[in-house]
Amino acid sequence: MVVVRPVGESDWAMFLALLPGLLPLPVAPGAAFVAVDDHDGRVVGAGGFSTAPFGRHAPGVRGDVFVVPSQRGRGVGRALLDALLDALPRWGLRHLHTLRGFAPRDVPSLLTRAGFRPTFTVTRYEAHFAHADAACGPMLEKLARSGRIPDDAVVAPLTSVMPARIAHLHAAHFGHSPTRSLALLADAARDPVALALSRVATVRGRLAGFILWRQRPDEAPHVDLWIAAPGFRTGWVAVALLAAAVREGVRLGLDCGWFACDDAARATHHIARRIGARAVHTELGHVLSIPG
Ligand SMILES: CC(C)(COP(=O)(O)OP(=O)(O)OC[C@H]1O[C@@H](n2cnc3c(N)ncnc32)[C@H](O)[C@@H]1OP(=O)(O)O)[C@@H](O)C(=O)NCCC(=O)NCCS
Repeated sequence: MVVVRPVGESDWAMFLALLPGLLPLPVAPGAAFVAVDDHDGRVVGAGGFSTAPFGRHAPGVRGDVFVVPSQRGRGVGRALLDALLDALPRWGLRHLHTLRGFAPRDVPSLLTRAGFRPTFTVTRYEAHFAHADAACGPMLEKLARSGRIPDDAVVAPLTSVMPARIAHLHAAHFGHSPTRSLALLADAARDPVALALSRVATVRGRLAGFILWRQRPDEAPHVDLWIAAPGFRTGWVAVALLAAAVREGVRLGLDCGWFACDDAARATHHIARRIGARAVHTELGHVLSIPG
């Protein structure tokens, strides 16, 4: 028989191996569960949610469930989901978001049957570095002509700014500790191509934003986080960061890169159109509202 129980000390490695998407996020013991085969003690599934706040319209947290293929279709997924739903009110939470989006026809029936409904759309764009480079120039000129770019704005390699300052903005965005952000940034910086593309914008020494790239083995580089600091969300930061990154991409002889944005990020969709990026994939995030 398979039983669901809270993660124990020795389960964390297995828990995160089954739910790697939760790795960068804070997950507390009371928000993490494993499904265990009580014959041999083998972990056959995991479910958990991050305690970082998430969701503009339905404030809550993000969770994920995974069951090893050989144990699917026996109620293990539902039991893990039930454990999450039981735990949520103890954290004062009423909305559980899926950690990732699903293409419309790939939404697991576990979610739809439980009452999850689509919330936001995430579109993945593929951009050709050379096209993007050619398009960014005129966009920057227009922004400069309208006086939107401060004279003392500087866009430089990510490594030119103290990592702790970048970690602060990274942590505020994801809702975890600056220490954890620092570790994640150090991890991202291990890939030389991703690091070369990553850029930071400052104005008179103040951090205005950064674009952080990542590259997984055998994949084109992708944007991990592209963010303007509060007080600098006037449009030029995003364009200037992208322009510097794609210029470097062209210099390195890269062909394509990709980035994703949700339907609330209208400015990013606009930039995607202007640089001729191709929408290659659309996913829907889902949310379940628990009656209070
Ligand atoms: C989605 C996922 C977690 C579901 O896990 P699961 O253990 O197969 O889930 P359940 O067994 O509870 O439910 C699956 C189906 O089996 C059926 N089922 C459950 N117990 C059953 C039983 N004893 N006898 C027959 N059918 C049963 C359920 O009714 C359900 O049927 P449906 O697909 O027609 O709705 C699993 O497929 C998975 O890990 N997928 C990859 C990761 C993923 O997409 N996670 C979702 C993110 S939240």
